[in-house]
Amino acid sequence: MGTYRIDQSYDWNYDQGPSFEGSLGPVPETPEKEFFGYPVKSRIGIAAGLLLNSKWIEFYARAGFDLLTYKTVRRAYRPCYEPPNWAFIDRDSPLDGAARSEAQIAGPGQPAEIARTTSTVSFGMPSKDPETWMADVAQAREAIGPGQVLIVSSVATPAKGAAAEAMIEEFGELAGMAKAAGAQVVEANLSCPNVTTAEGDIFMDAALSGRIAAAMRKAVGDTPVLLKVGYIPERAPLDALLRAVDGKASGVILVNGVSRPVRGSDGRPYFGTGRENAGILGTGVRDACLGSVRDAVETIGRDKLDLKVVGVGGVMAVEDAQAYFDAGAYAVMMGGAPMYDPGLAIRFKAVHPEW
Ligand SMILES: Cc1cc2nc3c(=O)[nH]c(=O)nc-3n(C[C@H](O)[C@H](O)[C@H](O)COP(=O)(O)O)c2cc1C
Repeated sequence: MGTYRIDQSYDWNYDQGPSFEGSLGPVPETPEKEFFGYPVKSRIGIAAGLLLNSKWIEFYARAGFDLLTYKTVRRAYRPCYEPPNWAFIDRDSPLDGAARSEAQIAGPGQPAEIARTTSTVSFGMPSKDPETWMADVAQAREAIGPGQVLIVSSVATPAKGAAAEAMIEEFGELAGMAKAAGAQVVEANLSCPNVTTAEGDIFMDAALSGRIAAAMRKAVGDTPVLLKVGYIPERAPLDALLRAVDGKASGVILVNGVSRPVRGSDGRPYFGTGRENAGILGTGVRDACLGSVRDAVETIGRDKLDLKVVGVGGVMAVEDAQAYFDAGAYAVMMGGAPMYDPGLAIRFKAVHPEW
């Protein structure tokens, strides 16, 4: 059983979570490092997703995760998709990050080998109204400790047929709101794998991504700006994206969950009609995500771009995080694993205080 009860609704988890009994033990002391100019205890964190509100941020900050990302917010209230929202993928599913394969849901219950699992999420990027989330972001900022950084992820909600300008402006406005509320770093999610609307694959449009980054930069001044990017299997569009956001964003977060059709044991779309595709996370996408980080780091070095790469995707154990740092990641974040293993940061710090 994890801190997020996948048998309960998003609202239940928002109000009642995180679910955890017992104690994780002390967080090992670590020497100070820097994260975009902020002093931090480690460059290990939690990506946008699991941290639904300030209560979740406080719990994971105390568990030693030092980069804490507030789950993506919008400019207006948006309900969550109906449950189920999170499920495990069958270990024998022929999923491979690079192939356009389908994913098959695992049988009921959690797979036994928890440190090597693949899962899928379909939430639809719900959001509280701005008044609520801004007040809660301020509380989250209060809740984190010294050497920890609060990142707030946001996304525009473009009306059907609306001009790109409106969306660009909205991303800028949201960044300004996140900063005003207490975010130390602002993030734009350019890549939700399970929404069917235009905000889901902005990262595939390099010029648009560049304009969004510029609008965010204008809104927040010197505050670090991060862009969450989806999986780009080909090198040329990845390189084009990096060049387009260079000088505007401070860094990119690679990679969001990989979007795939997800089927239940009956062969039907698991999450229901209209939600055929969902984000795949965990071990099954690790190598694909790691490859993207490696490629991006190489391009940034070759083209002398002023960007840092935050690595995400399939980090579940020390050796996974090590692989990302070896690939040149500036920081490493986790999406799903801290849900059922909240002691991960403590274990990382015990063996790698230099992270
Ligand atoms: C419960 C859950 C909700 C998520 N929601 C968001 C979100 O709102 N915005 C976002 O950018 N990514 C979201 N993600 C994706 C994660 O940030 C991350 O990219 C993904 O889980 C891959 O990392 P992992 O393999 O370590 O889980 C979510 C992930 C999970 C597990």
